[in-house]
Amino acid sequence: MNNDKKIAAEEAVKEIKNGMVVGLGTGSTAYYAIHAVGALVKNGMQLLTVPTSEQTKQMSIELGIPMVDINTIDAIDVTIDGADEFTQNLELIKGGGGALLREKIVASLTKKQIIVADSSKLVGELGKFKVPVEVIPFAKGYVTQQLKTIGGIGLIRTKDGKEYVTDQGNCIIDADFGLIENPAKLDEQINQIVGVVEHGLFIGLADRVIMAKDGETISFSK
Ligand code: A5P
Repeated sequence: MNNDKKIAAEEAVKEIKNGMVVGLGTGSTAYYAIHAVGALVKNGMQLLTVPTSEQTKQMSIELGIPMVDINTIDAIDVTIDGADEFTQNLELIKGGGGALLREKIVASLTKKQIIVADSSKLVGELGKFKVPVEVIPFAKGYVTQQLKTIGGIGLIRTKDGKEYVTDQGNCIIDADFGLIENPAKLDEQINQIVGVVEHGLFIGLADRVIMAKDGETISFSK
């Protein structure tokens, strides 16, 4: 599986050209893309990158990858990121690693969003993986109640026995909606709840998914 993550990530990195602004994702698959980008930079390619999390930022510093403040650029040429689930229609669930908010902002500013994954992430219908919902801490009780009214059983994420805190100081409710028949509708419904900052359904944001299975890559495009 890990080899497939690496193969998918390295295939995606082939889309990066000299002079580009590149978004760098978060997670164990994006990890391989970040390393491959580090190698490109080491070999002299001129790139500027935008990390999607503090974790990715730290990796970029260690690998000597130049970064740019997202608020000083108009667009990102290519972003390579992972996913927790994807369908052949390029709908995604992201946020298993807790970075969904910055990931969605970066994806929204990106011209070509490439998702890299091994074959375990491909599903017929989203929803086996719970939808991460980032909420401001003051609203976690209210949002949990509201999620219930639209069919989601939410559980506040914990880590090492404590409430998980995102890079923005928020908490995450992992919401189980069962299989999601209409992801676009659910996307809107969750967005309407006061106190929700963002959620992990990524609809209409991915341009290409590169999946690797048994050492071979398969590409899904819009
Ligand atoms: C991070 O918040 C997530 O959106 C990741 O992109 C997602 O969890 C995929 O991670 P892995 O590549 O580690 O499975």
